[in-house]
This record gives sequence, structure tokens and C-alpha cells, in this order.
Amino acid sequence: MKKTKGIVLAGGEGTRLFPTTKIYSKQLITIYDKPLIYYPLSTLILSGINEILIISTKTSLPLFKKIFKDGRDFGLVIKYAYQERPRGIADSLIIGEDFIGKDDVMLILGDNIYYGDMDFLRRAKNENENATIFGYYVSDPQRYGVVEFDEKRKVISIEEKPKNPKSNYAVCGIYIYDKYCSYYAKKLKPSKRGELEITDLNRIYLEKNQLKLEIMGRGIAWLDTGTPRSMLEASSFIGTIEQRQNLKIGCIEEVCLRMGFLKKRNFLKLVKNYPESDYKNYLLKIYEEVR
Ligand code: G1P
Repeated sequence: MKKTKGIVLAGGEGTRLFPTTKIYSKQLITIYDKPLIYYPLSTLILSGINEILIISTKTSLPLFKKIFKDGRDFGLVIKYAYQERPRGIADSLIIGEDFIGKDDVMLILGDNIYYGDMDFLRRAKNENENATIFGYYVSDPQRYGVVEFDEKRKVISIEEKPKNPKSNYAVCGIYIYDKYCSYYAKKLKPSKRGELEITDLNRIYLEKNQLKLEIMGRGIAWLDTGTPRSMLEASSFIGTIEQRQNLKIGCIEEVCLRMGFLKKRNFLKLVKNYPESDYKNYLLKIYEEVR
């Protein structure tokens, strides 16, 4: 069976979150009870991916390594690479070329939070032929890549931050590509903002008639983080649901256990070493519950 690897792009300068981002990247900032990167990382894992490349800045990379090491403790394989300066989302596919090799890749932005049933993502991953993007209905499409499509969901156009959006569907920060993505990314020219735009890469697939669109339905919450306000809103969203259910969102250890990447024995070994905390107590509760 075809294999799909994962890339989390946790680079960027996060200038809108200065001064915190003077110290480290925004993907390490806490959203409610855990660092932001836990959420996109667990989205990849929930879609059945256990080999992941984390791309970040030279200063923050050691901090990510401190959390996840080589991934073995979680039943994952985690590799690291750094992006010297923010050269755009598509640059991550050039950085990740050797890592991707002959496999498919699911690329997720390290500041994106998805909440809801991820079955659709697992299916999209298994069914991907060339490239798959996801559209999500938003009130402010001009802030995003915008996809226009017909009644059969065939993509007509895709534009980056258009002044006059052709639809209300933003392109989410999660993409699935075949092994040719690095080769195409290398052909891209920097945009006006000096970045290799993921929208330009998607347009290459579109022109080849190889771009599939999936719609993320209303049962899914896609949260954007990037400003102090949106961080606060994401935190209270996560906090509200976690309190109500006493179940955690974006809890890497739990997700790895439930996905069968981490054996119960190893899960316990890992968690026993954690300092006394609500997080540890939660994981011990999960240990008792999961068969
Ligand atoms: C980027 C992409 C855009 C996409 C968005 C999703 O925007 O360029 O197409 O819709 O991520 O979060 P940026 O964060 O660079 O403004």
C-alpha cells in the first residue's frame, strides 16, 4: 500500500505575536494547556501518519527536539529540518525533498487547529492521486487562498488573497501531494511578498488537471492562530470542550495510543516519567480506559 509522510511547517517570524516570538516560534506558545504544535501534529497522526518532518527556524528547532526527540517515545519517527528564513509554504516541500522520497506527503501549517471527526482526512489521504486541497466556508475569504469550483466540485480557479474573492471557500493550511511536489516547487518563482506560494504550486496541479478539492464540512472547526486575539479565542474554544468532556484535544500521547502507534506498555513507561500534573493524571486515566 502507498505510504504518506507528514510535514509540519512551524517556521515563520510570527511578527504579529511580538514580543513573545522574539524568544521562540509561535508554534510553541500555549493554546489552553499545551503548545500550539500539538494540535496540527495530532491531526497528522489521526490521519494515520507516523513519519513526520518538523521544519522550523534554527533557534526554535532545539526546543521542538526537546519535546519530541526522535519520536520513538511516542511510537513515531520524527525528523527535523530548518528553514533559514521564511521563504513560503511551498519551500517546505523543497526542504523536505529527501524526506518525502517516493511517498505522498501531507503538509500541515504548524499554526492551524482542526477539531472534529478526522475520518474525511484519512480517506482523502488514502485516495489521493496527485494533489488534494481542502476548502472551508469562511466569512473573510480575502485573507486566504480562495478556491472557486463547479457543482461537481471541480476546481475552476485558485487565487491567493484576492480583493474580490470568487467564492467564500478558503483553502485550508493542509495539503496532500504526490512525490512530484518538490520538483514542481523548485520551478516556482517568489511572489510579490517574496515567498514561494503554495497557491502557485496548487495551480500547477490544477493546470495538469490533477488537483482534487475536498470540502471540510460544518462539523469541523478550523481555527486560525496568529494574533493575540485569535490565540485567546482558540484557547477558550479548546478549554470549553476539554472541560465539558474531560477529554483532551491535540493530546499527542493519547492519539498515538488510540491510533495503535504506541503500545500500552510503552505509553505507561513514558507517562510515568512525567512530572505530577493534570496532563499526567489525564493520561493515566486514558491508560485505564483504553483496551
Ligand atoms: C497561507 C496560504 C493561503 C492559505 C492559508 C491558510 O496564508 O498562503 O493560501 O489559505 O495559509 O491558513 P498565509 O498564512 O501565508 O497568509
